[in-house]
Amino acid sequence: MNIAAKIEQHLSQQSLALIKLISNEATSLGQTVYLVGGVVRDTLLGYPNFDLDIVSEGDAIKLARRIAETTGLKPRIHSRFGTAKISQGKLSLDLATARCETYNRPGALPSVTPNTIQADLSRRDFSINAMAIQLNQKYYGDLLDPHHGKEDLEHNLIRILHPQSFTDDATRILRAVRYEQRLNFKIEPETAHLLQRDIPMLDTISGDRLRHELLLTLQEQYPEKIIGRLGELGVLQQISLPIEDTAGINNTFNIARQVNKSHNLPWLYLCLLIYKLSKAQLNQFAFRLKIAGRLKNILQDTIDIKEQLPLLDNPQITNSDIYHILLGRPPLAIQANIISSQSLAPSLHLQLFLDKLRYVKPLLSGEDIKQFGIPSGTKIGTTLKLLLKAKLNGEITTRQEEEKLVSRLYPTR
Ligand code: CTP
Repeated sequence: MNIAAKIEQHLSQQSLALIKLISNEATSLGQTVYLVGGVVRDTLLGYPNFDLDIVSEGDAIKLARRIAETTGLKPRIHSRFGTAKISQGKLSLDLATARCETYNRPGALPSVTPNTIQADLSRRDFSINAMAIQLNQKYYGDLLDPHHGKEDLEHNLIRILHPQSFTDDATRILRAVRYEQRLNFKIEPETAHLLQRDIPMLDTISGDRLRHELLLTLQEQYPEKIIGRLGELGVLQQISLPIEDTAGINNTFNIARQVNKSHNLPWLYLCLLIYKLSKAQLNQFAFRLKIAGRLKNILQDTIDIKEQLPLLDNPQITNSDIYHILLGRPPLAIQANIISSQSLAPSLHLQLFLDKLRYVKPLLSGEDIKQFGIPSGTKIGTTLKLLLKAKLNGEITTRQEEEKLVSRLYPTR
């Protein structure tokens, strides 16, 4: 079967130009090249995809170097894996030597050896991701589909290629659900049975890989659908995320999308996802997924703020008290609490901090205060704090009022 027309129809002009170039260079090097994986799946479905995965029966690194010479683009080469990556704006191109994989133990990264395109397709996760399109001119557009992926696409099915697939690599459990929910497909019954059987195999996967998969899930358009399904299957429990009722996130994720249009939306989703956990449960989850650094702090602060909400649930609270409760807390952790907190007063106080209070500063500097005859040292700091407090609480606003306050504090000078 030839699908050249589909490629021309669904890939961008930029992708097509790059593909033509690769095809010519590969032919001149005596290599056979194929488009593989997600871009083939999406092209058949008529969806855009800017991640070109290309496999060569030949030395992919040599090919990448040749493309770099012709285009001036800089490849990132991974000699150990025989792969190279080239980026051009939105477009990303991965080049790999066709290979087969063997898993020395479940969950380990596989050992790879060069092989044919057929072997390369057989090592893949699902039939819909195990198709290839020939790119060399003579056979341009020929579809290789040894695992009947096209048929599964037509029947909306996610199917593994062999019964040990989830045992070899249990991250495929998360991937299966991600594709099922993203594409609105069904996991084929035998695959579903094996997926359920192999959920304990998630214990063989490293924290780094699990974290990577979970963050990929949170980058999807509607991650709550995937999370809901993972919850039903018992996957969340297995990865130390004991969430009893995932229905609540349908609403909170939806609000998150409306209020946060930035690149850190997936992190906000994660804050909302862990919101109901206790501190101890969060620590266990962070330990299992090796979540560290800034992300870990944001998650911990989310729970810390949640525990302090009763303090903010006081209509008499002053702005300066709100300020001191929330000072130094990351905006994402505050945003997560605004979205998830059930009561109005704390939410309003959190929003006030986020929109206004955190930016409040006295107009007078330490230097200005010295002019009042106050020696440098702790008194300057204390004065600045008093100015800030008065300013936060709306007692003073102008520079003149600040000066008046300082004069009042130190009348003898
Ligand atoms: N793959 C696999 N097993 C995995 C991960 C990836 O077999 N655990 C294969 C699949 O053939 C997949 C390809 O590697 O199509 C590329 O992986 P990835 O970039 O993660 O997925 P895409 O198919 O490009 O899909 P997405 O749209 O989610 O990026």
